[in-house]
Amino acid sequence: MLGISKPITYSPIGVFDSGYGGLTVLKELVNTLPQYDYLYLGDNARAPYGSRSYETVYEYTLECVKALFSQGCELVILACNTASAKALRTIQQKDLPLIAPNKRVLGVIRPTTELLGNFTKTKEVGIFATNGTVSSQSYVIEIKKFFPDVKVFQEACPMWVPLIENNELDGVGANYFVEKHVQKLLQQSQNIDTVVLGCTHYPLLKSLIEKHLPKNIHILTQGSIVANGLQDYLLRHPELESLLSKNSKRDFFTTDSSESFDTHASLFYGQIVESKHLAL
Ligand code: DGL
Repeated sequence: MLGISKPITYSPIGVFDSGYGGLTVLKELVNTLPQYDYLYLGDNARAPYGSRSYETVYEYTLECVKALFSQGCELVILACNTASAKALRTIQQKDLPLIAPNKRVLGVIRPTTELLGNFTKTKEVGIFATNGTVSSQSYVIEIKKFFPDVKVFQEACPMWVPLIENNELDGVGANYFVEKHVQKLLQQSQNIDTVVLGCTHYPLLKSLIEKHLPKNIHILTQGSIVANGLQDYLLRHPELESLLSKNSKRDFFTTDSSESFDTHASLFYGQIVESKHLAL
């Protein structure tokens, strides 16, 4: 058919976080579902979100979701617990029907809480998360729906994200603040046998958290849980799956300087990253 070229369709899976943390989720998505195209957006210029109000987290998250839609995304994953806790429900229920009824936005709390109860024998779990996620009570509410007999203990760790974003993982400061919050969680109950790193930044502190937690406590990170959850979701939604482009392309956007993003991003993603600046 000379002269007729097929339109190039680019419909990546959008992956959003306030900063770098969502790259720990993207890494697992790419491992589990390598065939899809992915477009990552880090709102580094306005990170961290963890101590911001509902209104601000909602406003920023919606703006980033719209930016990802305008780049061709049919599906966006909020790879940020704070945004999942504070903005997801309003975006799904109020905004999507008006701005993009056929597009989908998913979060990271639901897939985690759906499985969590299967890991605990004592029926007592701990959640480490940002102030915003803890005060939203999203983990407590969601876990109750799936596992009403599981007791949830939460510990907000407001210094962990700034330490990670500033690459202070090996310093005495990180050790001090990790030990402090681990102890504060354990003071709430001696019976916890499973803890969730309920912030997508925290996998970078996993070895330090392990050092301060008793050996019998199992640590859950979200990357592979979210990736398996998405695989399952796409199988159940072939109409959406068929719209996603599959050229194994990875694109990265940041709202801050791309040079600085690229310098830090590989620590989270495990590979060299070349990003572009996106002005919102
Ligand atoms: N990575 C985000 C989360 O999962 C939070 C980081 C922030 O405070 O911006 O909650």
